[in-house]
Amino acid sequence: MSSKQPSRIRSIPGDSSKASSDNLVDILTPTGQVQEIRHQEGHILVCQGCCCGNTEKGFPPVPLEAWKSVWKARAIRRRVHLTIAGCLGPCPLANVVLVIYRGACIWLQAIDSPLQVRQVYDYVESMMSAGRYVPLPSNLEKFHFTRYDFDTGSCSATQAEYSAPGAK
Ligand code: FES
Repeated sequence: MSSKQPSRIRSIPGDSSKASSDNLVDILTPTGQVQEIRHQEGHILVCQGCCCGNTEKGFPPVPLEAWKSVWKARAIRRRVHLTIAGCLGPCPLANVVLVIYRGACIWLQAIDSPLQVRQVYDYVESMMSAGRYVPLPSNLEKFHFTRYDFDTGSCSATQAEYSAPGAK
């Protein structure tokens, strides 16, 4: 992007440098309108594509009810979004989940049970408390895999690269 192009991110009136405490920001659209969205810390993408959850192909069901109900019960909606997604790519590893937190990508496979779902949310909430990426807990380690050549498990990222401003 040219340095002369206007930013598409505008601050909330009354705060010239930051998003509001609710992380609401105005976004300038290509048609010149301003739309308000929420900046978030992370995103959980739960695959329910051609293979994940497809019992006819021999894969276990995706614990969808647990994904949705625990997300609501923990009231993290405004900070970490949940998306039930189509195919994320690595089908043979079903059921696949991608956790994105402050730029870190954490890929998980074989997340088949409500217990595992709660463990993933526990992990996400541990990062929310820290304000930065933290390594996987031991109960999720064996489900981790690397997908990108730059992802968290395969690069030497420092904590600072994935930290919130002011986080230690
Ligand atoms: S269907 Fe889940 S990774 Fe392809």
